[in-house]
Amino acid sequence: MLTMNTIIEPFRIKSVEPIYFTTREERVHILKKAHYNPFLINARDVIIDLLTDSGTSAMSSEQWAGVMRGDESYAGSDSFFRFEETVREITNMPYIIPTHQGRASEKILFTIMGGKGKYVLSNTLFDTTRANVEFSGAEGIDFRCPESKDPDLEAPFKGNMDADALQSFIAEKGPADISLVMLTITNNSGGGQPVSMANIKEVSRICRSYGVPIFIDACRFAENAYFIKQREKGYGSKSIPEIAQEMFSYADGCTMSAKKDAFANIGGFIAIVDELLAEKCRNLLIITEGFPTYGGLAGRDLEAIAIGLREVMDEDYLKYRIRSIEYIGEKLDKVGIPYIKPTGGHAVYLDAERFMNHIPVHEYPGQALCSALYLEGGIRGVEIGSVMFGKYAADGSLVSPPMELVRLAIPRRVYTQSHIDYVAEVIVDVYRKKQRYQGYRITHESPLLRHFTAKFEPVE
Ligand code: F0G
Repeated sequence: MLTMNTIIEPFRIKSVEPIYFTTREERVHILKKAHYNPFLINARDVIIDLLTDSGTSAMSSEQWAGVMRGDESYAGSDSFFRFEETVREITNMPYIIPTHQGRASEKILFTIMGGKGKYVLSNTLFDTTRANVEFSGAEGIDFRCPESKDPDLEAPFKGNMDADALQSFIAEKGPADISLVMLTITNNSGGGQPVSMANIKEVSRICRSYGVPIFIDACRFAENAYFIKQREKGYGSKSIPEIAQEMFSYADGCTMSAKKDAFANIGGFIAIVDELLAEKCRNLLIITEGFPTYGGLAGRDLEAIAIGLREVMDEDYLKYRIRSIEYIGEKLDKVGIPYIKPTGGHAVYLDAERFMNHIPVHEYPGQALCSALYLEGGIRGVEIGSVMFGKYAADGSLVSPPMELVRLAIPRRVYTQSHIDYVAEVIVDVYRKKQRYQGYRITHESPLLRHFTAKFEPVE
């Protein structure tokens, strides 16, 4: 542990990738050509890419060495056993099923556990999770804790599930139609906010008293464990692996996207306690992903994941990781820029409705903010608001979600402090000139997950 105040990146850079700079004038044209949708901008035309922290991590030299060691045998490869051992150690669950990414795990799980007339309850389902729940015919319901509804409130565990609401719902409907409860840690759609151990324990107690299975969406389990260590009484002297093991001990299974807290560019898994359920998942895995000892992955990917899962629990790394997000928040505070407080584990969520308070919600202030950040600084973020979650009422008017946000997700081990200083400078610049930016209207959209492909034009 370092004793100085400056928290430095706990790595040296061995291999670099160029960033191509564009001018503002070029970006005016690029943005127009992309129909003002950041998903339609080519990565080469982005200076700082904060679209996602998924699959964008820098792998370590050890992971790359593991890639060379990858055993590509179809069945029973050494790489699988190293992967399996690591996941078992962290989750203490016996059945480990590799998949090509998080949503493949969700598709398999909900094909078996979901279905018409069933409910999946959560603190907040991530959008692919919700889509897989709904695709199975089941209904997904989020019970967010009351603190999460106030973006300015500095509470330690705003990712928690509302356990009372959960209890009442199960008591009212009866447990038979409840497929499972899924706790997303950290709570991505709720601002990257952590879930406390006390909440995991309480939700688990309720589930177990009714015989309802509890699963964890574990994408960012290490970041969550670090928050527990920092913020929850009784965990300060526990190690991250100990905290992770305790979190998983309250669950009957988990789904994971290794593209987040495993520093891998692809991969995922399902871990399960129940043998029968594991067998059903494996049967489906064979027809959709692959043989159970590789799932949807190459042996080299399994190696990279196994090594990444150990690296991500390193406390010097987590300290730097969480601090680097907090650091952006402090820069925004100096100017009074609104964002979800406190900063979460993997991203900063700007409150676009208040940031762009001259643009009405039906003209998509989040989309306007994304465009402005790209225009002024070549920064790519993503709107999480009416574009992503908006629906239409019978009269064609927009039904908005509770918040209009722009997420700036920070890839792991990729950007340095000066990149982050630049990002903060651009946000502040856009905030000062915000009156110049106008709202947008949608000119083209698809019926499902419209944010990926929608086209926009500025409202004059
Ligand atoms: N669950 C959570 C909480 C996620 O954040 C994601 C992905 C998934 C599941 C699905 O995993 O992408 O491997 O299929 N989140 C990414 C993001 C895409 O940008 O937040 P996947």
